[in-house]
Amino acid sequence: MILVDTGDLLYYRPPTGHPNEKKTGDLKAALYTKTYNLMGYDAFTPGELDFSFGVGEIVRMSKRANFPFLLANLMFTQSHKPVFKPYLIKELPGVKIGFLGLISKEVSLGGPPEENKKYYLADPIEVAKKFVAELKKKKCRVIVVLGHMELAGQEMLAKNVPGIQFILSGHVPHHQPHPLDANGSEIIMAGSRGEHLGQVDFFVEQKRIYSHFQLVTLSAEFADHPQVQEWLVQYKADLQKLIQTRPQASPRRSPPAARREVVIPVTPLYMGENHCISCHPQQHQSWTGTAHARAYQALSQQNKSSDPTCLTCHTTGLGVVKNPNAFLANVQCKACHGPAEGHPELRRSLSPVAEDQCRKCHNPGNSPNFKYPTYLQKVRHQK
Ligand code: HEC
Ligand code: HEC
Ligand code: HEC
Ligand code: HEC
Repeated sequence: MILVDTGDLLYYRPPTGHPNEKKTGDLKAALYTKTYNLMGYDAFTPGELDFSFGVGEIVRMSKRANFPFLLANLMFTQSHKPVFKPYLIKELPGVKIGFLGLISKEVSLGGPPEENKKYYLADPIEVAKKFVAELKKKKCRVIVVLGHMELAGQEMLAKNVPGIQFILSGHVPHHQPHPLDANGSEIIMAGSRGEHLGQVDFFVEQKRIYSHFQLVTLSAEFADHPQVQEWLVQYKADLQKLIQTRPQASPRRSPPAARREVVIPVTPLYMGENHCISCHPQQHQSWTGTAHARAYQALSQQNKSSDPTCLTCHTTGLGVVKNPNAFLANVQCKACHGPAEGHPELRRSLSPVAEDQCRKCHNPGNSPNFKYPTYLQKVRHQK
């Protein structure tokens, strides 16, 4: 068995400028790296989220991994040589398999501009042509691309570079029960967030390769590994120290006022929903009936109330105020109506609610069924 991952694993895009986000990012990256070491991963191709803090950080993290980071088209500006190992050859009985790591040219590298000058992304198609030829010369019968790019980019790759059997799709958040046929290559989509494992079984005959794909849903029937569970408990405790949150009572049972806030923010930019009750009791009442008023609870139930990757959408104003503790539990009034500075004292009107506002959180990965008109109907205050 060969285990590979196609990226956006270790870091997340710093969403906000939260003062501790580098530290929380490092915690997560370290946890995943040692867990993948334990699982015996064979290769990993970083995606743009992994470059959130720059190339240097991911190079540093790669040294802790017992498996290579594969990326053929991230180059040093000076030498035009790849920063990471471009490919890996694995030998199973009777067959050599080449794994080639590629990332879209369109992504940004995240690090400080000074540092980024040291690197550039080469055209994945040109780079693939060169390395596919090299892998063939080295007698690889099967060539697998770990492709961190949009689906269109993967299809272009299949069209322009013959000889690739499998493209394991990174970046695309959707999963598909069947491989997509693209000019003789099979594009395999196992989705995001570790919800599924894409399993490809194949065997090779004289001239042909027969393969079978299976999407395995990683449901609760797969028991957690005791060692990883232990690390997770420690990870959560460490996170808690960096982003202090306090568990809170169910909004339904607690009185409506100040208690629902995690911490009172230090600047009035993001005032809590309790600030709005006195003048807008009807709107407040209807909001209390929506899932938005319980979004933070959804996290605490999963013991993820300190996980910054979740907090950005299940709370309001995280990191907007430069105080690690200043955010509001749940999707509050401001998430849709924007910061209410000067309202109503200066009679300033709040910006109208727009679809874009919803899509910041209701993205295809987290809200696949989102349709603006039907969703809007459920959150409007007049019923
Ligand atoms: C700050 C992030 C955020 C914003 C902005 C946001 N939502 Fe949500 N929304 C959530 C989260 C998180 C949930 C899930 C809460 C839960 O179930 O715990 C949710 C749930 C919902 C639900 C309930 C879905 C269901 O099946 O019951 C509807 C409807 C909804 N949102 C509509 C909207 C609309 C319309 C907008 C824009 C006007 C919007 N949301 C803006 C984060 C957001
Ligand atoms: C990009 C924004 C975003 C991020 C990040 C996010 N969520 Fe959500 N989450 C949503 C939205 C939007 C919904 C509502 C989806 C709907 O009903 O259409 C939701 C729904 C949920 C629900 C309730 C619905 C269900 O499936 O039971 C849970 C629980 C949840 N999220 C947990 C998490 C956890 C845990 C994390 C972190 C690993 C996380 N979310 C990260 C936006 C987000
Ligand atoms: C999920 C997004 C969302 C959240 C959260 C939200 N609202 Fe609204 N609000 C709307 C929409 C949508 C409208 C109506 C605009 C429209 O119909 O085009 C609206 C309208 C209003 C209005 C204008 C009068 C009216 O009823 O149309 C007030 C006042 C208001 N909201 C207050 C609040 C308060 C107070 C909160 C927090 C307790 C809140 N809203 C939370 C989406 C939201
Ligand atoms: C002291 C009273 C008061 C408080 C507190 C208050 N508002 Fe208002 N709000 C008003 C008045 C008055 C209007 C104008 C109503 C009208 O024109 O019919 C208004 C209008 C609105 C509107 C309609 C669009 C607009 O901007 O004119 C929204 C949305 C709104 N408020 C949201 C909020 C939110 C969210 C909060 C809490 C952060 C809040 N308000 C706090 C008094 C208040």
